[in-house]
Amino acid sequence: MIRPGAPGDVEALASLEQEAFGADAWSRAQVTEEVAGQTRHVVVAEDEGRVVGYASLMVAGDTADVARIAVAPRTRRRGVGRRLLAALLDESARRGAERVLLEVAADNAAALGLYEAGGFVAIATRPHYYRSGADAVVMQRAVQTRRDG
Ligand SMILES: CC(C)(COP(=O)(O)OP(=O)(O)OC[C@H]1O[C@@H](n2cnc3c(N)ncnc32)[C@H](O)[C@@H]1OP(=O)(O)O)[C@@H](O)C(=O)NCCC(=O)NCCS
Repeated sequence: MIRPGAPGDVEALASLEQEAFGADAWSRAQVTEEVAGQTRHVVVAEDEGRVVGYASLMVAGDTADVARIAVAPRTRRRGVGRRLLAALLDESARRGAERVLLEVAADNAAALGLYEAGGFVAIATRPHYYRSGADAVVMQRAVQTRRDG
């Protein structure tokens, strides 16, 4: 089940951050801000009452950015990431964004695969963007803006 994030999710999301991003994980305070932010939209994937994934979107004007997407290691490759990404695209349309941008490490095969499967196309490379020294690939996807409310 995919649902909007809530303040009560912060602890579970902070643990997921640690599991998925290690030294680059967001702190509890950052996760709290993300869940509460007006320009942010957090979606949570639950399986039998346990948080198994989450994703976060930032919307500014006509552009949305995928800020985060993470799935618990033992739940990967079961379509959870794909559903979280679809929920962010739905929210982008709801908020009137015309395009979605994201950055992904050039050596992150799983995330690159997920985004390509989700219709994102590489538009630029930012050399040595990450602390690891990895390049970032900037990807973009158009949003079909809904005009029905
Ligand atoms: C990236 C991530 C969110 C994918 O989540 P997931 O739930 O495993 O993804 P899904 O099962 O929905 O996969 C959807 C598609 O993405 C691609 N994909 C997912 N994992 C992949 C992998 N390890 N290698 C290649 N392609 C992959 C495939 O096209 C897949 O479709 P398929 O299973 O039908 O072949 C997950 O690997 C993760 O949390 N990684 C650590 C955090 C991270 O790197 N986040 C992204 C930062 S930019």
